[in-house]
Order: sequence, then structure tokens, then C-alpha cells
Amino acid sequence: MVVLFIFKFYNEMAVLEQFTSKEAMALEEKYGAQNYHPLPVVLAKGEGVYVWDVEGKKYYDFLSAYSAVNQGHCHPHIINALKEQAEKLTLTSRAFYNDMLGKYERFVTEFFGFDKVLPMNTGAEAVETAMKLARKWGYEKKGVHANQAKIIVCQNNFHGRTISIISASNDPVATENFGPFTPGIHSIRYNDINALQESLQDKNVAAFMVEPIQGEAGVYVPDEDYLKQAHALCKQHNVLFVADEVQTGIARTGKLLAVDHSDVRPDILILGKAISGGVLPVSAVLANNDIMEVIRPGNHGSTFGGNPLACAVAMAALEVVRDEDLAEKAGHLGAIFRREMQHIADKSGLVRLVRGKGLLNAIVINDTEDSSTAWDICVALKENGLLAKPTHGNIIRFAPPLVMTEDQLLECLSIIEKTLADFEG
Ligand SMILES: Cc1ncc(COP(=O)(O)O)c(C=O)c1O
Repeated sequence: MVVLFIFKFYNEMAVLEQFTSKEAMALEEKYGAQNYHPLPVVLAKGEGVYVWDVEGKKYYDFLSAYSAVNQGHCHPHIINALKEQAEKLTLTSRAFYNDMLGKYERFVTEFFGFDKVLPMNTGAEAVETAMKLARKWGYEKKGVHANQAKIIVCQNNFHGRTISIISASNDPVATENFGPFTPGIHSIRYNDINALQESLQDKNVAAFMVEPIQGEAGVYVPDEDYLKQAHALCKQHNVLFVADEVQTGIARTGKLLAVDHSDVRPDILILGKAISGGVLPVSAVLANNDIMEVIRPGNHGSTFGGNPLACAVAMAALEVVRDEDLAEKAGHLGAIFRREMQHIADKSGLVRLVRGKGLLNAIVINDTEDSSTAWDICVALKENGLLAKPTHGNIIRFAPPLVMTEDQLLECLSIIEKTLADFEG
């Protein structure tokens, strides 16, 4: 009894313990796997477009947890939904029905215009789900030869971290010493319609999986007509067009979905991140009945997928996107950002290129890909109160929460301008 009390006391103390940034970073270094290389800042609080470190310094968040926090940190509408549902029912598993899942399924399918949804948790799980769904459809609907199904992906993609997903990756850091890899995945050049046409000659191709904008690779926006042509080619060859909108989706690029810019309706849509406003891991795979019906009980699942807490949070998060016109805001603010950033770039020898769509943007730093300049600029931006992170090498991604005001955006641009000017000396 006494031992139990002491154990409980020390555990509670551990949660309440206050650390300096330095101490918190040392703890992660000592006790955590070193699978990330974070910027040296320790965050303790977030509200809207702002985050605060443990010493109380305030920053603009210009990453939004890789576009998960589109609705801003701790949005009251989402947090209220979380609290209310957390007091009623959090998890039933899918062994039983719950009174939130059907409601959410109706909401999310109507929101995005599909017949059915398959709820999962992380982005990677949703991508895996889409790959399984595409293969099963290939065998059962298209008539692909047994165990011969192929999925076409694009070079420099980022779809997540599982074995099958990294089997689609050509990034040596993500793949080295993780083999053997999953067969049946064929990689072609992104934004190359001829390469796609050629690869679709193979009758065993079940799906083409693509990011409408390659976010992790460095915010690569394809040619205006690429997605439309790719979609048409897929239709022509009876191949599923699978859009991974985990990062680009849910208003980030100035439309609800990035494919909406091209007037394209994917056969399978993959969502994650901002579907919960960054509050819980929630992801989803959406498709119409003719595709989703190949999934039968026992084929696929997840203990947490479709849990009532996630359902409540996701509905509230999507309501915020709709009620606060976040897609329109992202489009409007994004145009200002790129225009002003281009002015800054024109004056600065440090910035080679500005690109993006909506509030998913990047600048390419005028230095070699293996230089530390982009990282050093991000450290300097942090000192000046703005948090951003390099993606690949010399590229810095800028993706603030979509709830930012125009005045806040202009202040951020002046922080970036001043930082770049200081940096050039
Ligand atoms: C396009 C895309 N797909 C999938 C994922 C994986 O999502 P998660 O990290 O939630 O597994 C990411 C994550 O950044 C992503 O950008």
C-alpha cells in the first residue's frame, strides 16, 4: 500500500515537474529514440497561430505540425468537442457499434462527396489502407492476375514510414537497411505524363498514387494540367487515381482539396493530419461504393479507427474549416505571402525561388543541397520569433495555421525579411 502510494506520488510529480528548455531537450536525448532532428525550441503552450516555449517566449508557428494544425492550436470549438466526448465515451473498438461513428461517417462522406469512408488513425495507416484497397479492387474488379497487382507512385514522394510505404520511397535516409521491401510498387517521375502513360500499359496496374503537391519533397507544385491528364489516363486504363492529401488536403492549398484546383475527383482520397485539427491522430480513406465494397468484415481494421472521441473531434475540426472559410482564407493569404516573399527574394541574394499554393509554400535557399544554410536561417528565425523548418536540404517550408490574419502574416513576412537581411550581414 505504502509502496503504491510512493509510486503514485512520484509519477504525479514527474508529470508536474517543470523543466527548462535545456533540461527538456536533454531528457529527449537521453530517453528517446533519436528519430528526429528538431529545432532547439521546447514548446509548452499553443493558441491559434502562436506557440510559447517553456521559458514563456512567444513564436509564430509557421509549420503547423506539418499542416495538421490548419485550424490553429487548441481551437476552442474542437477542444470543447474533445472534452464533452471524453467524458462520455472514448473507445469501444469496432467489436460493437457506437453512437458517434455513423454520425461522423455521414458527415465526412457528405463533406468530401464520397459514398463511404474507412476510418483510421495516422496518415501512414490511411496510405496503407488505400494500397490494400487498391490491390483488392484490382483483383476482384479489374481482373488483375493473382499476386501481380502494381501500384504506380512518383519519385521523391512522401507517403509515410511503414515498410510498404517506404518500399515506394527513393529517399536513402528513409530506406537504408530497412529492406527487404514490398514488391508491386513501381516508381515514375513526378509531373511526367509520358512516364505515367507508359507505365499504365501494364494490365496489372491497379492504382496510381500521387500527392497533388509534393510537400515533404520541398513543396513541388506540378504543371497546371498534370493532375487532370493523369486522372484522364487512369480512367482510360481502368486504373484507380489515388490522391494522398494527408498534407495538402483540408483547405491548406486554398481549396478544400488540392485536387479541386484541377477539377479532379480521385477514386480514392487519403486524408489525415488536419482532419482532427491536430488534436488526435485521425485519418480517413474515402471512396465510392463500387470500390469500397471489396472490403468485407475481417479484411482490415484498427482498434482505434473510428473511435467516438476521434469522430467528435473530426466533425468539430471540419466544422471549423467550413464555418471559418479556411480554404478561401488560405488562398487569399497565400497569394499575399508569395507576392511579398518574391519581393523579399528579389532583394535578397539568399533566396533562389519562392513556390507553393495557398498557405503551403517554400523558399529555396541559394546554397548547395547539403549546406546547413537553410537550417541556420531557421535557427535565426526562431530567435526572431518564428518557427519554420527545412524540408530537404536547402528548402524551407512555410505553412502557418490557416486562421492567421492578414496583419499577422505581414508581421511574419517582416520577421522573415529582417532575418534574411541580418543573415546576409
Ligand atoms: C503526403 C503525406 N502522406 C502521408 C503522411 C504520413 O502521415 P503520418 O505522419 O500521420 O503517418 C504524410 C506526413 O507528413 C504526408 O505528408
